[in-house]
Amino acid sequence: MNGRGPLIAGLALIAVGLVGVVGLYPVLRPGGTGGMISRGGMMMGMDGMMGRGGMKRMMQDMMGNMLPLGINPASLPQPHSEGARLMQHYCTQCHGLPGPGLHTATGWPAVVARMVARERMMSDQDMMGIQAPSAKEQATLLAYLQKHAQIPLNKATAKGLDTPAGRAFSATCSQCHALPDPAQHTAAEWPAVVLRMQRNMVAMGKPVPSQSTLDAIGTYLHKYAKQPGKGGS
Ligand code: HEC
Ligand code: HEC
Repeated sequence: MNGRGPLIAGLALIAVGLVGVVGLYPVLRPGGTGGMISRGGMMMGMDGMMGRGGMKRMMQDMMGNMLPLGINPASLPQPHSEGARLMQHYCTQCHGLPGPGLHTATGWPAVVARMVARERMMSDQDMMGIQAPSAKEQATLLAYLQKHAQIPLNKATAKGLDTPAGRAFSATCSQCHALPDPAQHTAAEWPAVVLRMQRNMVAMGKPVPSQSTLDAIGTYLHKYAKQPGKGGS
């Protein structure tokens, strides 16, 4: 990793993301920010006109489906750890607090690199008061996310996926993140997680499955769940 690639990727994403958004915003929201934003001056203009809260709201309006669903800080795993603290400090500046279960341990490095590149670029340019983590803080953040990441089901060795319950589980539970390994929770833990996922589905505009589909998913998770007292898979 030489840091240059992600930085360029970050600049490109800001260009298509924020500039695109700001370019469209006055058109879609007449009387909002007005039409005086030019490409070159947009960040300074935005800064003066709306501040960070305004930027967050605008991003939510325009790019809501690309942004992570914000979770309650108290529901972060190990909420008092340094990693959880850094998440709340650096990862809520533009959107809601992302849950570590959104990506797998192999998926997080690219996402964190993209986000931190954005933060560095914006903090270097003194934009909207955005702060970027130090290299050490970034490593702590990434380690925290990887430690609590989604554990994906290995489809090559998984059992029962080609049954009605397995199919209901695969189709429903792979819409927003990798298909979860049932062995990451005990049978006693799963119902609360599935209930939270139903709320995530409502919040993210995905259809909530019928009760019979939910029951089938519950059956699958229960069957392949972690045995109490033993480690994960
Ligand atoms: C400077 C603003 C900004 C900050 C700060 C920021 N993000 Fe983002 N984030 C974005 C934008 C814009 C998107 C949508 C475009 C994209 O995915 O690149 C996004 C999307 C996401 C997504 C959903 C897309 C995906 O690939 O899953 C996740 C997850 C995410 N951010 C995590 C984080 C984490 C973790 C941090 C803290 C290290 C963070 N963000 C800090 C601007 C930011
Ligand atoms: C509408 C999108 C969506 C769907 C569909 C979805 N999830 Fe999630 N899932 C999320 C989000 C967002 C997070 C991170 C925030 C959180 O933990 O609530 C997450 C996190 C998780 C986690 C890690 C957190 C933890 O408590 O262990 C597990 C496990 C999980 N989901 C399992 C499932 C299962 C099982 C299903 C199918 C019933 C499912 N998900 C369907 C959005 C979804």
